[in-house]
Amino acid sequence: STNPDYDLSTPIDPNGVGLRQNLTSYGDAHFSLFMRKLFIKAMGYSEDALSRPIVGIVNTYSSFNPCHANIPQLIDAVKRGVQLSGGLAIDFPTISLHESFAAPTSMYLRNLMSMDTEEMIQAQPVDAVVLIGGCDKTTPAQLMGGISANKPIIHLVTGPMMPGSYQGVRIGACTDCRNNWAKFRAGTLDIEDISALNEELAPTGGTCGVMGTASTMACILVALGMMPIHGATAPAISSSRLRISESTGTYAVQLAKQQLRPQTLLTRESFLNAIIVLQAIGGSTNAVIHLMAIAGRHLSIAGTITLATVDEIGRATPLLVDLKPSGENYMTDFHNAGGMLALLHELKPLLHLDAMTITGRTLGVELADTPFRPLPRESPANCIHPLNTPLYPASSLIVFQHGNLAPGGAVMKASASKDRRLLQHRGRAVVFTDSADMAARIDDLDLEVTADSVLVLQNIGPVGFPGMPEAGLVPIPRKLAALGVTDMLRLSDGRMSGTAGGTIVLHISPEAADPTSVLGVVRDGDVIVCDAEARTLRVELSDEEIKRRQEERRTKENEEGKTKAKAGVWEARNHVRGYRGLYMREVNQAEHGADFGFLTAAGPGNGP
Ligand code: FES
Ligand code: MG
Repeated sequence: STNPDYDLSTPIDPNGVGLRQNLTSYGDAHFSLFMRKLFIKAMGYSEDALSRPIVGIVNTYSSFNPCHANIPQLIDAVKRGVQLSGGLAIDFPTISLHESFAAPTSMYLRNLMSMDTEEMIQAQPVDAVVLIGGCDKTTPAQLMGGISANKPIIHLVTGPMMPGSYQGVRIGACTDCRNNWAKFRAGTLDIEDISALNEELAPTGGTCGVMGTASTMACILVALGMMPIHGATAPAISSSRLRISESTGTYAVQLAKQQLRPQTLLTRESFLNAIIVLQAIGGSTNAVIHLMAIAGRHLSIAGTITLATVDEIGRATPLLVDLKPSGENYMTDFHNAGGMLALLHELKPLLHLDAMTITGRTLGVELADTPFRPLPRESPANCIHPLNTPLYPASSLIVFQHGNLAPGGAVMKASASKDRRLLQHRGRAVVFTDSADMAARIDDLDLEVTADSVLVLQNIGPVGFPGMPEAGLVPIPRKLAALGVTDMLRLSDGRMSGTAGGTIVLHISPEAADPTSVLGVVRDGDVIVCDAEARTLRVELSDEEIKRRQEERRTKENEEGKTKAKAGVWEARNHVRGYRGLYMREVNQAEHGADFGFLTAAGPGNGP
């Protein structure tokens, strides 16, 4: 029998499915299809298999990435789901980013990963894509790329690790990594303890087991409608993680048939739901940056979801989930208390239930149709508070929008403040000009600092320290830590791990490296005023004095430029090679998500 694919008198549909997509490689569409088929057949696929909807599975496994340790098993289960539903599953790799193995920072590579994801989804003939990821930067990178590619996508996260135990106390990465390290620095833990803890803090594969960035983004994916409701919390090593994977494959085939694409599925309401959940879980500050970047990719939502939206929703949303670092529990506890299904039921009065989800049903219908038996309120296992008796009344994450220090905004996780008095504070600045300066002087016993000082760290913003490191958790100077000081007001243009706590203002914009920055000209002894309630962050300097200092700085940097052939980083970025140069020239400020301008909806190529 003759194969109709090679019948030259029948044109090939340029918008066809499966292998028939984008047949332009060799000019002649019939020849391009012929070539594609002969090569893919070398993998052993039959004509029958190749006639099915093709579901791509993005594989981000790496032996450097323990958060993704279970991906081979998840891929098997997704394939089972796809193939039981009549599709053909084909997995392919993109880069893999783990927080500790992505120098200088994983954030530096997030945009690269989003480009990798977007371009590989575009390049290959897939009708829908399962995005498997989990570690902090992976899920946002995948969603950013997926929205820009705008083929049907569905997320599957690897799931949280199990908590460990030491000396009868439950522990887990990475809130307890930080707490215990701080105790070791302060001399209350010895070297035997800290060595033993190192063995137990990450006792299984999977993502960090607290409400860090990975868990936050997983919950947000559910709220956005990009992942099934059960997808966020099941442990990485659980059998339910595998059943979720199988059903993700089933949904992917349905998505391939319906061609429900992210630019259509996601609406303003999806993002409002995401921010409601972010506030209710006491989510990571990093998620604010990621959400801005994700919204910034969407052609009709970009510009309508801003830091102000995050703050406004926060004022009406209580913190309900009692997890570290804002509370006491671990992701497994959240999962056992009903996870996102229970939380969304609790939040129902606040949510936009008409928002669409990847199941093809609205969030409201999903909630109504998913069997749910809540834990009794009084059960000790219930770490999800009712709406009327929250853990924290509102505004777990706040955005500073007033005052002269952060005209582009700044973010703080107020619910993770350890000393709430610091939320309204006035103190003198102790300034570190960059991370190296801080590392060199923070433990100096001669450092002039008191518990009322405000620790200011400059030049760890997107351009100033490419990749915007998680160095915003400035440690308590050792001489104060030894006196029992556990929290101080700290400010920077950098980020902080979602697993960390303290009274810490982050993402100050414009960043210190920017010649127009106010943060960049703050000096030792300047008086800083933080009023979290009024969302004000101010340095007590006149506009004239700020202008004068900025001018002085420009002159100094120009002079240095003549003698040392090294201008300020802002100028120098035009002379940096490779990806680092691209990053430094193109990255936008934190309030826009630290994305590359040319990838955003406002960038080139998206206009009328
Ligand atoms: Fe991957 Fe924490 S290091 S989730
Ligand atoms: Mg992290």
